[in-house]
Amino acid sequence: MKAAFLILVLLAGLPVTGWAKDGQAVFDAACATCHFKHRDPARRDEMVAPPMDMMAVHVRDAVGGQRAAFVARVVDFIKAPAEAKAVDAMAVSRFGLMPAIGDSFPELTDDDLRLVANWMFDTFAQSQLPPADQRRGMQP
Ligand code: HEC
Repeated sequence: MKAAFLILVLLAGLPVTGWAKDGQAVFDAACATCHFKHRDPARRDEMVAPPMDMMAVHVRDAVGGQRAAFVARVVDFIKAPAEAKAVDAMAVSRFGLMPAIGDSFPELTDDDLRLVANWMFDTFAQSQLPPADQRRGMQP
């Protein structure tokens, strides 16, 4: 069921023409097929991947807030995801490891991946994890 849904959203996300070269467009066309942009506890049961804002906060914390390190880390992870590199073990245990982005969207170039990683850094610059007592929705 979950697999069928994933395939559906992946197909629906494929643009007919080429990629618009901006980070938001890459997110909308590729990443948003799995990731919600923002954490939304009301839609918890619909999630097939952790919300993008929460992953951005985890990565930002892991790299000490530096853009270059953030971008390098995101690009490296999405090209070759591995449990040992993941910033959120809970996300891996709940959703399974992210498939390599090249498996889902082989048309994305390294430039596209850097664009979307920079877009994440900017878009979620002010995002915070919810207070500890409201994190139930993030548990597996
Ligand atoms: C087929 C579904 C799918 C697609 C498409 C997808 N992701 Fe993911 N992603 C996941 C899942 C599931 C996880 C959580 C498990 C994990 O960390 O591997 C995840 C985790 C992540 C993480 C956390 C990495 C870390 O350091 O732990 C980042 C960042 C991320 N995704 C970015 C992206 C970006 C950017 C795109 C689009 C270019 C994207 N994802 C497309 C499923 C997907």
